[in-house]
Amino acid sequence: MDFEQFKFPRTSQLPQKIAFQSTSPSNIALVKYWGKADIQIPKNTSISFTLSNCYTSTLLKLEAKTKTEEKTTIEVELDGVSTPSFHPKIEKFLKLIETYCPYVKHYHFAIQTKNTFPHSSGIASSASGMSALAMCIMQLEKKIDPAISDEFMLKKASFLARLGSGSASRSIEGKLMLWGKHEQLNQSSDLYAVALNKDIHPIFQDYQDSILLVDKGQKKVSSSLGHSLMNGHPFAEKRFEQAQENCSELLEILKSGNIEAFMTLVESEALTLHAMMMSSLPYFMLMTPNTLAVLNAIWEFRKTTKIPVCFTLDAGANVHLLYPKKHQQDVHNLIDESLKMYCENQQVIHDEVGNGAEIIQIK
Ligand code: PMV
Repeated sequence: MDFEQFKFPRTSQLPQKIAFQSTSPSNIALVKYWGKADIQIPKNTSISFTLSNCYTSTLLKLEAKTKTEEKTTIEVELDGVSTPSFHPKIEKFLKLIETYCPYVKHYHFAIQTKNTFPHSSGIASSASGMSALAMCIMQLEKKIDPAISDEFMLKKASFLARLGSGSASRSIEGKLMLWGKHEQLNQSSDLYAVALNKDIHPIFQDYQDSILLVDKGQKKVSSSLGHSLMNGHPFAEKRFEQAQENCSELLEILKSGNIEAFMTLVESEALTLHAMMMSSLPYFMLMTPNTLAVLNAIWEFRKTTKIPVCFTLDAGANVHLLYPKKHQQDVHNLIDESLKMYCENQQVIHDEVGNGAEIIQIK
């Protein structure tokens, strides 16, 4: 694997005091990443929709250390409130990226961050949060070396985001991203995600995702523990093979616009992810009775109306409803009439595919 391309040699001519801002969205996997080697090297290729309304906005303020200062200070504010519980994660991230971004050692970090989606809504903020921070760091790199191309900036932002949280690598661009080496795609890599923007059928260009917040609680099982339970899992090898095949099939579906095949593949991927959790040791289950009630209601609705709405699941109880934009009104009615009641405080977030991270110019 070509790690060398990401090493930035220079730590001279660093700005003294500077700030950068970025926004970056969450993403929802269609073919799931579950199982990894160190550090966030995926055991299989995954493909996701980049989201639009669910995003993190991060302001990174940097101040150069004096020559005698060794220790880096880190301050993090979430929604304007000092949040020291984030420090260990940021410290670990900065340590991990030091080899590739040696200039980070020379700064104190003050991070102000906020999410558009409610905190502890069961929507992982690590993908949007880590990718937004990675984009801020790449703005610093571009400031130090203006010659780096925009293309490289996005690629390395995805590479850095991956080191923070694997799925974060897929939030940098839109509208669909593929992460992990796949034989069908020359430019694919385990180190960063690539945008799939060629050969995408128009139906997928404005696909909708309504997120039913069935259980807003904190994750019962951390994703690092979940991934680790794929080591030695009796079905792991077969699952990794299946994911590679499903990626090939999904690439075809994305081209042809075959919605029936899309729904079958996506639902099967979601249930397989949960089946892996249920068959690991220790075993665990993240779906709740309300999750199952929603899945059954979706199948019933699809059978009677023929409206092509399907579901996918994350590592949690929440349900993502995926459907073409032209069915928005019907699906919203379904949610209001028959699905909202399964959500905590009747909460639903309507989202759709989006274009990835953005740089915000600070005035
Ligand atoms: O990025 P992580 O380590 O939080 O793993 C995410 C795993 C899933 O959300 C369950 C699947 C995926 O591909 O996003």
